[in-house]
Amino acid sequence: MPRLSRRDLVKSGLAASLGGAALAALPQRAAALRTGAVPGGRERLLLDPNWRFAFGHASDPARDFGFGAGNDWDKVGDFLDPSSPRFDASAWRTLDLPHDWAIELPFENAEELKDHGYKPIGRNYPATSIGWYRRIFPIPETDAGRRLFLDFDGVYRDAIVALNGHYLGRNLSGYSPFRFDITDYVGYGGDNVLVVRADATEREGWFYEGAGIYRHVWLTKTHPLHLAAGSTFVSSEVHETGARSQGSGVRSQGPGATVTVRSECANDGDTALPCHAVATILDAAGRTVATARTAVAPVPAWERRSVTLRLNVPRPDLWSLEAPHLYRLDLSVVLDATPGGPAHGAPVRRNAGAPGGEVDREVTPFGIRSIRFDAEQGLFLNGRHVEIQGTCNHQDHAGVGSALPDRLQAYRVERLKAFGCNAYRTSHNPPTPELLDACDRLGMLVLDETRLFASVEEGLDQLERLIRRDRNHPSVIAWSLENEEGFVQGNDRGGRIAATMLRLVRRLDPTRPVTAAMNGGWGSRVTELMDVQGFNYENAGDPAKNMDAIHRSFPGKPMWGTEVASTVSTRGIYANDAVRGYLSAYDRNKPDWGATAEAWWTRFAARPWLAGGFVWTGFDYRGEPTPYGWPCINSHFGILDTCGFPKDLFFYYKAWWGTEPVLHLFPHWNWAGREGRDVEVWCHSNLERVELFLNGASLGPKVVPRNGHVAWSAPYVPGTLEARGFRGGRQVLTATRRTTGAPARIALTADRPAIDANGEDVCIVTVEVRDAAGQVVPIADDLVTFRVTGSGKLLGVGNGDPSSHESDKGDARRAFNGLCCAIVQATREAGDLRIEAASPGLEPATLVVPCRAAAARAAAP
Ligand code: GAL
Repeated sequence: MPRLSRRDLVKSGLAASLGGAALAALPQRAAALRTGAVPGGRERLLLDPNWRFAFGHASDPARDFGFGAGNDWDKVGDFLDPSSPRFDASAWRTLDLPHDWAIELPFENAEELKDHGYKPIGRNYPATSIGWYRRIFPIPETDAGRRLFLDFDGVYRDAIVALNGHYLGRNLSGYSPFRFDITDYVGYGGDNVLVVRADATEREGWFYEGAGIYRHVWLTKTHPLHLAAGSTFVSSEVHETGARSQGSGVRSQGPGATVTVRSECANDGDTALPCHAVATILDAAGRTVATARTAVAPVPAWERRSVTLRLNVPRPDLWSLEAPHLYRLDLSVVLDATPGGPAHGAPVRRNAGAPGGEVDREVTPFGIRSIRFDAEQGLFLNGRHVEIQGTCNHQDHAGVGSALPDRLQAYRVERLKAFGCNAYRTSHNPPTPELLDACDRLGMLVLDETRLFASVEEGLDQLERLIRRDRNHPSVIAWSLENEEGFVQGNDRGGRIAATMLRLVRRLDPTRPVTAAMNGGWGSRVTELMDVQGFNYENAGDPAKNMDAIHRSFPGKPMWGTEVASTVSTRGIYANDAVRGYLSAYDRNKPDWGATAEAWWTRFAARPWLAGGFVWTGFDYRGEPTPYGWPCINSHFGILDTCGFPKDLFFYYKAWWGTEPVLHLFPHWNWAGREGRDVEVWCHSNLERVELFLNGASLGPKVVPRNGHVAWSAPYVPGTLEARGFRGGRQVLTATRRTTGAPARIALTADRPAIDANGEDVCIVTVEVRDAAGQVVPIADDLVTFRVTGSGKLLGVGNGDPSSHESDKGDARRAFNGLCCAIVQATREAGDLRIEAASPGLEPATLVVPCRAAAARAAAP
């Protein structure tokens, strides 16, 4: 489309037509704002569906929709050509959010791209580093007088946002949420054009970060009198006296808990409005357990009034890892009668069950629990000791990159819990909010980390947005201010930065401890300031880096391993292969700074003063293919691969972190061509003794050392390897590995029997290549092609192979050591979703997943 000048726009009458409806609505709005008599009731509409997308260009304005040509900023109203209603975006691709364009790009072998997963983004790749998004949405006349906001949960990164030709703002961080008040910029009674230009050229981290609008976007509508965004803070104090909390469903026996609700009523209008706030706490069954209200008082025009309410919850169900009990706070603002005005009884939209005059209501899930760090004994949750058995994680997953549907967040938490992980460090950035929802619901502690260790406005602003958004989550037990900031963590400048950040944290959340994930500089001012000192690795041979020595110097300081292990292994691989980029799955490989699983855990388990540690990492992620480079495109640090399939180390952790008996035997027993040669056989087990049999002949019993493993050397002959595990003299478990036949058929398994037809839910399908006897062939690499029909679509594929260059967005994937996965997403039509999987020479498989009728979230048209 030819670029329209400002003059053209005015001549063509376009500007007038855009503002016409708004002008017509003006008198009505003015009256409404005076009295407060406008529709109340908050609406939060998902803006994810129906976007258009196109690549721009980082160095050529002609290929960047005119951006940079020179006259975007001169006059307001014609900012960014694509945000004009006249702009023809029909050639742009249509898509739904969340969206990560990086995952769609082909891999490119350039050293500079290695840490980010070899995706061509950066200064040398201008044609694939800028993404433009465009969305048209109507604002009805009836919204006149309401406050209208756009909420972005996260855009990677440097997002410039325009609405109807007006600049709304720029957000640098690829991880922080941001909001714009668009009330002054919308056109009423017609379409509005929203445009986001995301520039992923510069990076924030040293790992795959994705690109684009990879989290949700919302359109929020409120009454002028509303609870200010991010102002609500629910905290609770458990009266420990006599309290008892022993996991499942146990109530405290003490007098109860005091829940303090703080919030702010904002009056974004020209007339002072009298109101009161009502807080209601409901339990998981929806029963009201406590309620309180403030006195009536006016909120002056364009000002805020703070609200504080204390509620007593007798015999609360505490939030714990085993029983993550959630309460719900309903906080309403009720508009009262103005002495000379008609506000009370005016046409205020009522929510079902709400008292008359309610103009705003916010629902906040929260939990009642206590946390305490002790310098000698570690962490206590509800007065009960909890060892942190944590993992650090980045946010990408197979098939989707960093654009995860909400269900996948929960799936990942479930996979972590499956091996006894109880804590998640959001390394090294603010997470997607739905991850925290999943941690709240499923019982997973969170160490929540900001990206920028900085006390300048940008750093403090990112930190503030993180804390305001996340401080009501019971799962969040601490804030992390930094990761390995080697230039400052050990010196006075770092101390000054930390002190300023800490003042902000204390103001926003005095209830949670603060930590720093340091890999040196311990004992500095930063250490003095932190409530809990973090160790990213240690060097036991160096007194300045030895945890015991530092503990002796700071005896009153609680400490934990904010990052440990960095053990590297590839699922189903039993010998290092530098050419293909694989590492053996025995617990053996680690970089210089890292440790094997057994080494770090044995060391930590022997130190009760440590609160536990966070393994680097729970899941493999793209980028950082340590110790290799191309063709390897993703990391090997995970206990799970990028799909969430377990590596052998999964069972080491399950054995020593979990509560069930474990007996895991490896490697597989398909070593054709290596007959007669010795194969190392290991068992991860928490039983007392394990005896190994090869084709019925004993290779001897072994006693399992605490936090260790047992191993034998067995000459390979095809057949059956069997381990028998004993406890208290009784055989309690057996594990077998049989030499399988050739691949014969495909088997598909869904993570859940049915999913919701709400346009967002996903089913994670595990694809196994099996032999004729039904055993998974542990070395199979057959190419599997998918066809998805009915009520769903194929969202992505993966196989966990760190050196696979196949597309995550293709319709086919090779199996890697017998497995691959497909992620399918439901449409909004209830019915059956059919997944057919075929491979040359194999019997195909079909899986039918019912998609139940389910309400889709309210979305903007
Ligand atoms: C740490 C760093 C992590 C990751 C890890 C790999 O030093 O904090 O982000 O790079 O090393 O071992």
